[in-house]
Amino acid sequence: MYVCVCNAINCKSVRRTVENGASSVASVFKACGKTPQCGRCVSMIRDMVGAARPTACNDHGHDMAPAIAAE
Ligand code: FES
Repeated sequence: MYVCVCNAINCKSVRRTVENGASSVASVFKACGKTPQCGRCVSMIRDMVGAARPTACNDHGHDMAPAIAAE
């Protein structure tokens, strides 16, 4: 499914960029070599990036939400 119609970026491409370290909407666009156009896809890409972030330290069980919220 296309996430960004303007740039023909699909969900698989977004997932791949996140797996390779993209941590923001801007870094997803940069990794795809694209530039935002209309901006309608921004909230969906933001949700996909956010869903991929860890919410707890896998080694120690620490809650990382406050650290993520401070970014
Ligand atoms: S849908 Fe992504 S910039 Fe328009």
